Amino acid sequence: MLEERFVEHARDGDVHILRIANPPVNTLRTGVRAGLHEGIAAALREGARAIVLIGAGRMFSAGAEMTEFNKPRQPPSLPEVFDAIETSKAPVIAAIHGSALGGGLELALACHARVAAPGAMLGLPEVKRGFVPGAGGTQRLPRLIGGEAALRMIVSGEPVTAAEALALGFVDAVLEGPLEAAAVEWARANAGRGFTLARKREDKVKGADLAAFDALAASLLKRTRGQESPKGCAAAVRAALTSSFEDGLNTEREIFTKLVNGEQSFALRHIFFGEREASRVPDMPADTHPLPVKKAVVIGAGTMGGGIAMSFANHGIPVTVVEQSAEALERGLKRCEANWERTVASGKLSAEEYAKRRALLSGSTDWNAVKEADLVIEAVFEDMAVKKEVFAKLDALARPGVVLASNTSTLDIDAIAAATKRPELVLGMHFFSPANVMRLLEIVRGKATSFEAIATAMDVGKRIGKVNVVVGNCDGFVGNRMTGKRGFQLERLLLEGALPQDIDRVMEAYGMAMGPCATGDLAGLDIGAAVRRARGTVAPIADALVAAGRYGQKTGKGWYLYDEKRQRHPDPEVERLILDMSEKMQVRRRKIEDAEILERLLLPMVNEGARILEEGIASRAVDIDVIFVNGFGWPAWRGGPMFWADRMGLKAVRDKLARYAEATGDANLKPAALIEKLAAEGGSFAGLHAKRAA
Ligand code: NAI
Repeated sequence: MLEERFVEHARDGDVHILRIANPPVNTLRTGVRAGLHEGIAAALREGARAIVLIGAGRMFSAGAEMTEFNKPRQPPSLPEVFDAIETSKAPVIAAIHGSALGGGLELALACHARVAAPGAMLGLPEVKRGFVPGAGGTQRLPRLIGGEAALRMIVSGEPVTAAEALALGFVDAVLEGPLEAAAVEWARANAGRGFTLARKREDKVKGADLAAFDALAASLLKRTRGQESPKGCAAAVRAALTSSFEDGLNTEREIFTKLVNGEQSFALRHIFFGEREASRVPDMPADTHPLPVKKAVVIGAGTMGGGIAMSFANHGIPVTVVEQSAEALERGLKRCEANWERTVASGKLSAEEYAKRRALLSGSTDWNAVKEADLVIEAVFEDMAVKKEVFAKLDALARPGVVLASNTSTLDIDAIAAATKRPELVLGMHFFSPANVMRLLEIVRGKATSFEAIATAMDVGKRIGKVNVVVGNCDGFVGNRMTGKRGFQLERLLLEGALPQDIDRVMEAYGMAMGPCATGDLAGLDIGAAVRRARGTVAPIADALVAAGRYGQKTGKGWYLYDEKRQRHPDPEVERLILDMSEKMQVRRRKIEDAEILERLLLPMVNEGARILEEGIASRAVDIDVIFVNGFGWPAWRGGPMFWADRMGLKAVRDKLARYAEATGDANLKPAALIEKLAAEGGSFAGLHAKRAA
């Protein structure tokens, strides 16, 4: 069957216009590639003086169609389209608005020239999907802007603005006004001037300073330890400095093919698609509309309230924080200011932008401020009596129809909702610390929560740059409930022979931003101890640390000893305490292999994740993975805990769980019913979701 074409061909005198029309993001699917190939040929047949290539709708192009990656490729390939452009007698001018990303930017780089609208963003994000630009991007970009500038862009995957692209030298002009008309005019004025294609430009690359390039590559790669694609990007760009265009393309192709078929790229794409998937609530009617939110009120200006308020101001939404005393309010606002000022000092935020954000944030000790709110988020002390009192007050003051959200991390949303006369408008909006930085937002759905309230929280979450995952109401929701199950094995590992630094080393080598002991020290060990007290559980070693006044970083010592720079150091005193405890509990210490440490810390989470799926607390296994990548420092290139389990195979997961459950007497490790079932069927967590969606 002939595939449909997704390119419109228009004419303005002797300038021809090819519009990529594959909404919403103009991916370069087969019908686009074929349409471009045919369109260029047709324009030349008709004697076009110049050809303007532009995107219809929102943007130029977001890149390759990733869903075509795992299927047999249909011709023409992108390189064939680029050949048609590069051999065209009439110059082909890319006119970029919105975004030109990945294959979309590579297409533009193959053109004779590029013009852009002022708001356009241009980038090569392939590294974030686990591979390298595979259609000449690593060869053409360095030939346009030099090896080091290209390396920075390609290794980071971050897009640049039109103005930055102009300054770097891969955009020829930034044009004001409606882009298509401006681009046609520019093409007509410049058609006769003679262009040098990127592939023909070797001057800048020839004179490259390889030593400087290698030094830059080494410093950039230090920040991406464990991940393969940044290394691949550096190697591909380096080839542009040392070999011919054709040889460079071959090198790029080899690296691309290896990476795109590798485990890390599979994991990264799992998360990329998962984040989109997670924004769908399976049972939400399609006609559900979010309520408009023009102004937010946050109750409590502590650690979380301040960060949440900053997230609103950072994204242009006016926000007021309400505190119980003038002192607490001032302290809270000062902390936000100090936070912004640090960002200004680091050069990542301009003084003007800071002023704009600061102006959107106000504070009050007068609860009447709640009357102005379109959405209220509560972030007061974690105490049910306090929460109930606050919600009763909010219910009385907030306009009818306004959503009231709690940032509680453990308390029952239904009990909080019961303190109001609008339980359908109460839900959890569970941010992660630091709230202005962490992208995860767990949206907790209570028994009575309406779809409209959920849609409102999701809409707001998206507007303030969060990754939303809708979860059910239970102790700890998804993320904290799962990490909470690690505690028993962590204690056992310490008793049986490991030390905190061994545990963190293994988890950090796996790729976690921070191991569990260091994380505990950062959050405060007293918090975990309070939770255990409330739940009636014990952790002999962690409890002993707290009893010894070792609360973590805030007291200068916890699992580790901290110096004045907050660097952690193993502490002989902790080691002694652990050895004493082993002796007291008559546990014979032995050397524990790294692989065992990893398994015994990840398997309890996977098992709890399976229970979470059984109970319908999470809709899909990938939702859980998205939670860990965006809220718990899990490396995206590892794909998350449920992905990890699927790759191991659920039969092996079941067997290991059963073995560790027996060896350590941990009832939590008894394989969840869902794991037993899937292991028996030869199924997987991912397959479960595919079946449900079908
Ligand atoms: P915090 O102690 O830093 O801040 C709480 C603030 O609320 C204080 O400034 C206090 O003066 C204010 N406050 C207390 N009662 C109030 C009232 N009746 N009216 C107005 N203001 C009042 O606590 P934090 O860490 O910010 O936690 C707040 C909430 O966020 C808790 O429910 C906590 O479980 C949750 N949470 C905390 C996380 C964390 O990492 N700290 C992560 C996610 C959620």
